[in-house]
Amino acid sequence: MDLDALRKLAGITPTKPLTSLNIDQAIAERRREMMKNVMKESREETLELQKLPYKTSELAPVLSKENVEYHYNILSAGYVNRYNNKEGDADFNYGGAKLHNLFWQQLKPAKQSSNYDGYAKQTIDANYGDLKGFTEALVKEAMTIQGSGWVYMTKTGTIKTTPNQSYKTEILMPIDMWEHSFTDYIPAKDAKSKYIEGIIKLIDWDAINRRLEV
Ligand SMILES: [Fe+2]
Repeated sequence: MDLDALRKLAGITPTKPLTSLNIDQAIAERRREMMKNVMKESREETLELQKLPYKTSELAPVLSKENVEYHYNILSAGYVNRYNNKEGDADFNYGGAKLHNLFWQQLKPAKQSSNYDGYAKQTIDANYGDLKGFTEALVKEAMTIQGSGWVYMTKTGTIKTTPNQSYKTEILMPIDMWEHSFTDYIPAKDAKSKYIEGIIKLIDWDAINRRLEV
């Protein structure tokens, strides 16, 4: 590729001679500008706390009404409101809002029977044998979180963790591993595993399958 073509690619008006080094710098600078604009656009997004598709009492006995009300009404709403009001760390609040919306919307009342089926089931069974194997893998991965964070499944069935409230677009099914999520299970030694086993029973697999269709 000649210099003129490179200049065009970098969006540079050829007012001065360019070396390949400063063309590289100019391309990098232009990329940074484009990324800044993308970030700015996402910053201007107004977030909302999505309404729960069940009553706050309906996740019991996996999650108590008290736990859900505090976690949803106070903590989850807090991320959304602080982000929209431009208070505190924007990345942290943006991630917190996104992750909590995904978390709450993927659950169903504890009394509803499991609808484990479809593409989610195929993906999980292919990777972990069955739901039990998947749950064990989630617990194992969740134990690697240092401090606060989330364990999640990607669209391809990989299990990963993300620290604090770091949102990533690959997150399909996130499970909150901050201590405020599993207060109902503390002080049991196996609080985290019992909590994850409970959450898996609450998963609305239709909701997960709908996310996979996007
Ligand atoms: Fe949380």
